[in-house]
Amino acid sequence: MVFTQSFPDFVYLNGEIFPAVEAKISIFDRGFLFGDGVYEVMSQKQGVFFRKAHHLSRLKQSLEALQIKFDAENLFSDIPALLSAAGLSTSDCLLYIQITRGIAPRQHAFPSEITPTVMMYAWPKSLPEINSTLAKVVVQEEFRWSRCDIKSTSLLGNVMANQHAYIQGSYETLLSRAGVITEASHCNVFFVKDGTVFTHPANNFILNGITRQAVLDLCIRKEIPIAEIGLRSDEIYSVDEAFLTGTSTQVMAISHIDNKVIGKGLPGEITKALQMAFGEEKRKLGELE
Ligand code: PDD
Repeated sequence: MVFTQSFPDFVYLNGEIFPAVEAKISIFDRGFLFGDGVYEVMSQKQGVFFRKAHHLSRLKQSLEALQIKFDAENLFSDIPALLSAAGLSTSDCLLYIQITRGIAPRQHAFPSEITPTVMMYAWPKSLPEINSTLAKVVVQEEFRWSRCDIKSTSLLGNVMANQHAYIQGSYETLLSRAGVITEASHCNVFFVKDGTVFTHPANNFILNGITRQAVLDLCIRKEIPIAEIGLRSDEIYSVDEAFLTGTSTQVMAISHIDNKVIGKGLPGEITKALQMAFGEEKRKLGELE
């Protein structure tokens, strides 16, 4: 993997926009001490964010689950000012949003009155209409917690799982919890078997990806049968097709799982149809504004 992402020039911190080098936070911020915070990553194409309302609603759910009192709606209204300062108002870009619980003397339980630390930045990124990259993935036993539905900044388990893939020259690690494939370190995973699209149900063992939700909506629209059922880890090597979904990954076909070829080792018919429909949905969104 090539590490291509550079630092942004401008960041939004607690209501103000700063040159990135001037933005400072306290070492007593609970985000720094405990990973006590939540985040979102959204993609903008031609000046329009993909499923912005879905991201806002998931952010609110994550804040609520961690009892972080913060008006996320209000924060979203500050996004245009940040994009304008960064010169990205109408550009294709990705936006990172992070809200940590705030600053307090280090103690696990948190005070009820505490001001969250809020940070956002954007960087130019043009995602291809169809992600033609093929992903090799490996499988690993799940070792994260049981609240994977919260988009928490405590990502050490995800970092370790992704590193596990990276050192083997793979893109992702699929996680197997009690013998059932849940998701990957930073993506959701789908399988196609006998014309049906399988993915793990949106419970506490996965992050309910916005891309995952979009793909399920596209399956309904295209009358492709869906089963929100997690496949067993011994079933996945014989599926017809498999693919990953995520904000920057979009819809990425899986060619190999643990070095075993999936289908013909190329994007299958259903994967290709969903990739095209997904690209079209993003393009249409751009045309609406
Ligand atoms: N990752 N599962 C996990 C564990 C994730 O971290 C992500 C997103 C997804 C896909 O969600 P979405 O389609 O909403 O991007 C599934 C983000 C992008 C990240 O950590 O950078």
